[in-house]
Amino acid sequence: MYKDTVAFIRKIFKEATKFIPLHEPRFVGNEKKYVIDAIDSTFVSSVGEYVDKFEKMMCDITGAKYAIATVNGTNSLHLALLLAGVEKEDEVLTQALTFVATANAISYANAIPHFVDVDRDTLGLSPSKLKNYLKELAEVKNGKCYNKVTGKRIAACVPMHTFGLPMYIDELVSVCKEYHIPVVEDAAESLGTTYKNKHTGTFGLLGVFSFNGNKTVTAGGGGAIITNSEAVAKQAKHLSTQAKRQHKWEYEHDAIGYNYRMPNLNAALACGQLEQLDNYIENKRALSDLYFEFFKKDFNISLIREVENSKSNYWLNAIVLKSEIERDNFLSYTNEQGVMTRPIWSLMNTLEMYKGCPKGDLSNSKWLEKRVVNITSSVRI
Ligand SMILES: Cc1ncc(COP(=O)(O)O)c(C=O)c1O
Repeated sequence: MYKDTVAFIRKIFKEATKFIPLHEPRFVGNEKKYVIDAIDSTFVSSVGEYVDKFEKMMCDITGAKYAIATVNGTNSLHLALLLAGVEKEDEVLTQALTFVATANAISYANAIPHFVDVDRDTLGLSPSKLKNYLKELAEVKNGKCYNKVTGKRIAACVPMHTFGLPMYIDELVSVCKEYHIPVVEDAAESLGTTYKNKHTGTFGLLGVFSFNGNKTVTAGGGGAIITNSEAVAKQAKHLSTQAKRQHKWEYEHDAIGYNYRMPNLNAALACGQLEQLDNYIENKRALSDLYFEFFKKDFNISLIREVENSKSNYWLNAIVLKSEIERDNFLSYTNEQGVMTRPIWSLMNTLEMYKGCPKGDLSNSKWLEKRVVNITSSVRI
């Protein structure tokens, strides 16, 4: 079957012998034109018409009232946590099975991450596991949530929509509401993904996206924060531009700010890419359908698909193998054959810097960690 899989991937990517990466960017639209235009305008840094255009496009795509263009997804998460009110020594809930940037952003905010389990079907933070965890651990006092053991505030929750698959985000937000915990959605991987016809990133107080070169569409490097709160949006722009007060010539800063705005040059590239988003997602969804039909024949491998009432961008297709040994054999064979595949991330609680952090029952995460592999997912020409 591994041999058949490699042959199938080579056939659908029309690539008989060359190395096939997991995901590569495609530039087939106005990207070059817009980048040259940005250079000609001399506005190449964090002010320029493409930054404004990019933010408008992000509002149109996600349905959020406000979008703030940033340097990348990781610093978007950092800023979003600060905007949600996270302070030094606070505790923040997230999932054990995620890309390390989610946990690192919590650390940048000087907060302590708690690692909670995911659901096996969505790979996203499990509402039921979170509910049980909070029942044991948390109490609400004066409208704020506290850890009964440490006495520290549980100041935010960061669920992540893994590989573009939407999680049960409405249920999760309900649990967090019950405990007065603001939600920052790590939607870095899920641009174009909806759950119950609502875009990911719009369920919580803030949502965050990445435009890294490995994502569905790219800015080279870039990020975006979305929110429906005018006050939060204003503060996001302010803090991401060194907290500088508007003045024609004076340098007046009223807080410790950050240099987190997306340069116009990157926004130009991103605008060209966003124009392709619908086509790319259609292409990626068709690819997932092809994989689904192919793997249906094999009882030892299953493709992870979107759950009911949702639409995934299928950024990265993921399969589940029967065991750790089978996973390792699959990884060795496909990579030796020049078809790149990759295991899912190591659980955050197993990484050296996060070993001592509080965690819940992680049975689903542990199960998935040993079995999930990403397979070739680029947009096909
Ligand atoms: C889940 C998740 N969160 C955050 C990030 C960070 O985004 P960036 O690489 O743009 O900093 C990424 C991607 O790289 C990601 O996959």
